[in-house]
This record gives sequence, C-alpha cells and structure tokens, in this order.
Amino acid sequence: MEKKENYKQILDKLSALILNGDLERVEKITDIETAINELDKIQDFYYKNRQLLEDMMLLENLDENVKKNIDKVIGDVGFKIALLDDEFDCRGWIIFDKKLTLSYYDSKVKLKKAQPDDSVVLTKWWNDGKVMAHAGFPNGVGTTVEKVRAQIENRPFYNLLFIIYYGSEPIGEISADIKDGVADFGIKICNEEYQNKGIGTFAIEKFFKELFSSDIVDKVKISTNANNTRAIHFYKDKIKAIETNHFEFKDANGKNQEGIEFELTKSQWKELSKKE
Ligand SMILES: CC(C)(COP(=O)(O)OP(=O)(O)OC[C@H]1O[C@@H](n2cnc3c(N)ncnc32)[C@H](O)[C@@H]1OP(=O)(O)O)[C@@H](O)C(=O)NCCC(=O)NCCS
Repeated sequence: MEKKENYKQILDKLSALILNGDLERVEKITDIETAINELDKIQDFYYKNRQLLEDMMLLENLDENVKKNIDKVIGDVGFKIALLDDEFDCRGWIIFDKKLTLSYYDSKVKLKKAQPDDSVVLTKWWNDGKVMAHAGFPNGVGTTVEKVRAQIENRPFYNLLFIIYYGSEPIGEISADIKDGVADFGIKICNEEYQNKGIGTFAIEKFFKELFSSDIVDKVKISTNANNTRAIHFYKDKIKAIETNHFEFKDANGKNQEGIEFELTKSQWKELSKKE
C-alpha cells in the first residue's frame, strides 16, 4: 500500500513537469547556457524518477491501466525533454559549430572560427600595445601562447572568436560574447596595412547577419574609446549603431579614459538591411 502511494507521488511529480509548465518555461529562456543548465536539472530528475517507477512496476502487481498510464507519462515527458534537447543544440550551435568558416564568393575576406593554433598570432596581437591601446592596454596584455591556447580550447560555444583572413593571411579578429540575447561585440583589424580598406565594414556586416539570423541574439552591444574617432565613425555612421551611453574607465596604466557604448537591435538591423 505504501509503495502504491509512492508510485502515485512519483508519477504526479513527473506529470507536473508538463502540467505545471516547467518544461515550457525552460523553452522560453533566451540565455542558451541557462536554458541548457535548467534542462539538465530536469533531465536528472526525470531519469531518477523514471528509474524508480520502472523498478516499482517490476515489484508491484499493478493493474494494466495503471501501467499504461505510467508508460504514457514516461513517454510524454521523455519525448518533450528530447525535443528541447535537440532544439537547444540547434539554437546553440548553428553558427558556433556548423559554420566554422564563413567565406564569400565576391571577396578575399574569410572569417574562420579561432582554433588552438591561432594562439600564436593572437598572442602576438594581444601583446602589442599599438593594437591593444584602444581597448585600454597600451602595453599589451602580457599573455603567453600557452594561456591563449587554453582559452581557445576552453572557450564556451556562446563566446565566439573568429579570425579575419585576407586570402591566406590572418589580419584581425571578430568576437561576440552572448548572454541573455545580448552579444557583446568586438572587432580589430590588427594588421595596419589592411585597415581603412573596407574590410572591417565587410566583416561586420557578414558577422551581424550570422548573429541576427540565430535565435539567440536580439541585440548587439559595442563599446569603444571616446578618442577612437575612426571606430566612432565606423559604428555610428557606417554600421548605424545607436549611441547609448558614455562611461569612464581606467586603462592598464591607471590613466582615466572615456568610453562610448553603442547598441543595435535585431529589428533595427532588419530595417537597415531592407533599405540596402
Ligand atoms: C575600427 C576598424 C574595425 C574599422 O575597420 P576598417 O576595415 O579599418 O574600416 P573601413 O575601411 O571599413 O571603414 C573605416 C572608415 O573610417 C574612416 N576613417 C579612417 N580614419 C578615420 C579617423 N581618424 N576618423 C574618422 N574616420 C576615419 C574611413 O574613411 C572609413 O570611412 P568611410 O568609408 O566613410 O570613408 C579597424 O580600423 C580597426 O580594427 N582598428 C584598430 C582597432 C580598433 O579601433 N577597433 C575597434 C575598437 S572598438
């Protein structure tokens, strides 16, 4: 009798995942990492309770209708969890894994997802004060190839880093750290010879297209140093991002600096793309 009560409680707990809308709530979470974590917890709960029910069915002489009901609940909840699992995989990986290289028939510019061996060129750029001054590191960041390699290897999939190539030469980087639908964006054409040739504009347009056609980006945020007149012209007049904020920060030498923040939402970007 006690065991029968037990299975009913367990069954109720499992049915509640659908009846209480728990799974629906997880489906609506926009931050993919949180969504995956929440689904993981539900999956653990499901498999543990499913096992208990299955064990109980073996021990108990249960009525056929009760068994059918248990099978149905296990099936329905399991099916919904599997659907969400697939959906999150697609949402998370569409640009992060399937498209490792973005290349275009009308340009020599290519964007390739950073690989561990790119740590050599990235370290060279990141340690170069001239390249990094705009980001607040006038003496470079002082990192090593090993550290950068480990960062690339452990980079979560929603934290994108692509190398910009011109032909076979790596000339810069483009990045987006995505959380709660917002992509914190950055771009650098690190090799000076390739600046002011329209490559930044081309790369950003292609990259934003990828970001905004994924389900997980609603808005892009960009910040730049207030003395970086080229970047301001680039974001404001060319990309048509909206200036939202001025902020103060100290660079790595402790010198006060002013920053400007820009934003571009998916709907603004769609409107702008229509006009072209
Ligand atoms: C900013 C950056 C990404 C732009 O990419 P790019 O390929 O050089 O840019 P484009 O050639 O597509 O466009 C540059 C525009 O800035 C203009 N420009 C160049 N120097 C300028 C200056 N000192 N002040 C204002 N505008 C300037 C160019 O005339 C061009 O505009 P136009 O097409 O209207 O004439 C790139 O120059 C870069 O990475 N610079 C160093 C790092 C950096 O500043 N990163 C951004 C920090 S948030």
